[in-house]
Amino acid sequence: MLLKETIQDNYFQGYAYSYPHKSAYRQLSPARSLDDIWAAEKKDSLFLYVHIPFCEMRCGFCNLFTIANPKSPTQSPYLDKLQQQATAVKSAIGEQAKFARVAIGGGTPSYLSVPDLEQLFTIVNSTMGAVTQAVPTSVESSPKTLTTEKLALLKQYGTTRMSIGVQSFLLEETKALGRPQKTVEVQHALQLIKDSGIPEMNIDLIYGMAGQTTQTWQYSLDQSIAFEPEEIFLYPLYVRPLTGLGLQERAWNDHRLQLYRFGRDYLCANGYEQITMRIFRRKSAPQMPATPYDGPTDGMVGLGVGARSYTSGFHYSSEYAVGKKGVKEIIHSYNEQQNFSQIDYGVTLPVIEQQRRFVIKSLLEGGALDFAAYGNTFGSHVLQDLPELRELYSLGLVADNTAKIQLNKQGLELSDVIGPWLYSSNVQEMMKKYDLA
Ligand SMILES: C[S@@+](CC[C@H](N)C(=O)[O-])C[C@H]1O[C@@H](n2cnc3c(N)ncnc32)[C@H](O)[C@@H]1O
Ligand code: SF4
Repeated sequence: MLLKETIQDNYFQGYAYSYPHKSAYRQLSPARSLDDIWAAEKKDSLFLYVHIPFCEMRCGFCNLFTIANPKSPTQSPYLDKLQQQATAVKSAIGEQAKFARVAIGGGTPSYLSVPDLEQLFTIVNSTMGAVTQAVPTSVESSPKTLTTEKLALLKQYGTTRMSIGVQSFLLEETKALGRPQKTVEVQHALQLIKDSGIPEMNIDLIYGMAGQTTQTWQYSLDQSIAFEPEEIFLYPLYVRPLTGLGLQERAWNDHRLQLYRFGRDYLCANGYEQITMRIFRRKSAPQMPATPYDGPTDGMVGLGVGARSYTSGFHYSSEYAVGKKGVKEIIHSYNEQQNFSQIDYGVTLPVIEQQRRFVIKSLLEGGALDFAAYGNTFGSHVLQDLPELRELYSLGLVADNTAKIQLNKQGLELSDVIGPWLYSSNVQEMMKKYDLA
């Protein structure tokens, strides 16, 4: 289908943060061994992702893989299982494997206690061999869970970036999101991060919730800017607000688009540069530390329930069935799991899917789709492999350049249409079947 027809009046069709989406993964029979999966892979600049599926509360809008308020996260069986899984994974990837980046995400990793965080970083460093004091390491957090002690520990282990979900600085709006949060608590947490000495701070904000206006949006943007974070992420709300707005689909889309444009222009007028549809980086911030990790081609090792792992031609994770079985049940079975060296849930990517993934990641993650880099990886020209990309030119969505494709301002605005439009019909079909199951 032509991109022009796909757009219609909806700029918010889906956030393509990974390709293929987990709903295209399936049960594998027979299972594959980790050794076999990683044997022939390039492993000199891997990304290590560790998923912590715990939060202080379950926010109304959130469909991430997490549970609220587990009774006793301290010394939880979850960390012991992480240790067990890490041992199995390390044995498969081998001593030579090198990690160029580390991210601890969730859920809310800062929900863990100080001893649990200590155990977590020991697993990452001692078992996995990632050197968090030497490579970019980021940790996600929420305001109420941060303390001076936790931040000191994270700093000590070399954390370079703290990401904090704020969503809005107005209690009324966080209530509308199903995540009531007092502004003073948010400000206190932001100050703790500033005082911790961790060099990078990122603030997440959401637009499109019930009751939000341009003025209230500007208030949250101003409050964020006042803390001079290195990055601000603006997320369009992706779960329809249950109350308040009372808008039809079309009007909600218009509302989000108007707020998106306002937020983008406001940040750009106040010292920030747009990197992707969601990411804005302070122009005066020091350059991000260089890393050899290359998103479109390098592998990702995921640890923890819900975490994905990517090799060049195979993606896998623990079972993904949030709606059906419930996250609790899946975490429970992770906590009971004895064998971590067999993988029974994932998807194989034929070359055409690897090419699509390369294109989607290059276009949507703040870089550019470089013809030479693509040619080096696949030995062909991307415009021959995916001729539909030519429409980006005819619609005026890319910068004028003969060596690469880079979305311009209009193209970035359409990221959440361009991503899903680039999904192959096969992947779309798998995702649809999963939704119907
Ligand atoms: C793992 S969370 C961040 C850390 C922490 N758990 C918190 O919420 O404070 C990642 C971010 O994704 C965004 N997000 C999650 N679900 C969303 C949705 N349905 N629509 C828009 N943004 C969403 C939120 O901005 C959230 O901060
Ligand atoms: S938004 Fe953050 S704190 Fe809320 S449920 Fe999702 S992961 Fe947890």
